[in-house]
Amino acid sequence: MHPDVPKGVVYLVRTQIAPEREAEWDQWHRQSHVPEVLAERGFRRARRLRMVEGDEPHRYWTLYDLESADALQAYRQSPAAMRLAAQHDQKFGHASNLKRSTLEVLDDLRAPIAPSEAAVVGGNLHLMLRAATTADENAVLTLLKHLFDRGTAPPGFTEAQARSSFRQYLGDPDSGLFVAEVGGRVSAFATATTYPTMRFGRRGHVEDLVVDPEFRTKGVGHRLLEYVERWARREGVTHLSTVIGLHREESRKFLTQEGFSDASLVLRKRWATSSGPPI
Ligand SMILES: CC(C)(COP(=O)(O)OP(=O)(O)OC[C@H]1O[C@@H](n2cnc3c(N)ncnc32)[C@H](O)[C@@H]1OP(=O)(O)O)[C@@H](O)C(=O)NCCC(=O)NCCS
Repeated sequence: MHPDVPKGVVYLVRTQIAPEREAEWDQWHRQSHVPEVLAERGFRRARRLRMVEGDEPHRYWTLYDLESADALQAYRQSPAAMRLAAQHDQKFGHASNLKRSTLEVLDDLRAPIAPSEAAVVGGNLHLMLRAATTADENAVLTLLKHLFDRGTAPPGFTEAQARSSFRQYLGDPDSGLFVAEVGGRVSAFATATTYPTMRFGRRGHVEDLVVDPEFRTKGVGHRLLEYVERWARREGVTHLSTVIGLHREESRKFLTQEGFSDASLVLRKRWATSSGPPI
């Protein structure tokens, strides 16, 4: 995660519950209590955990993610928090014991979404294909500019927004941002997202695919797209789509060679935002 993205806090509630009340507590906690807490301001999500190994008598742990320590403090002083705590006490006060702690999130790291792969392409170029990391941000931003039509940024484009989207890709479990290094330098990248459809199952979409002009027509684009495809297949996707400008003849030729066909027509509507130019 990027340093300027707030990492939030975790509010940990550990519960010890009398065995004869466990099933009743578990159902009430899952169906009623935790959803009510999550509806309060500042909460992002909750994870309910049960200890399967360890001596700790507090076997049920609930980890609430909140956006900030201030949000947690505001919640704990709110009438809603008092009401929810009183409800808990009334129902299970004699049968339970709670321990509450606040934890600061130092890092929120994910395992790479795809294993890295090495390949050799035309001109004896040594490629390394891998999922992007935060360290790739500047290189990817530089390559992104090669996707601008005739070198002009799309209306409403800002670098800050592109950087923010880059970080969102890295944290989004349904998306991937992939790079190809040539001789240790990031020289191509691709972004892809998968999404559910009711008619066709899970679909995938490649939003960006660009190779540094210095390394084009040597097979880099082909290898990178194959790599994206392998990730998409592992994600359960049955087919990929992408959109290219009608004038991009070389991209159309490339995609046709990669097995894509122009099966549909993409229609688009743009609108002006109150705070800026049309997007
Ligand atoms: C499209 C793009 C990603 C292809 O990457 P690449 O590494 O050059 O492609 P590869 O070397 O793997 O594949 C080359 C094949 O693509 C086609 N191709 C690539 N560049 C071409 C060009 N300038 N003119 C004609 N065909 C071209 C050819 O079919 C070629 O096969 P061939 O070498 O057997 O003739 C790259 O040109 C690029 O970044 N273009 C600008 C960004 C863009 O348009 N992206 C949208 C694609 S989804």
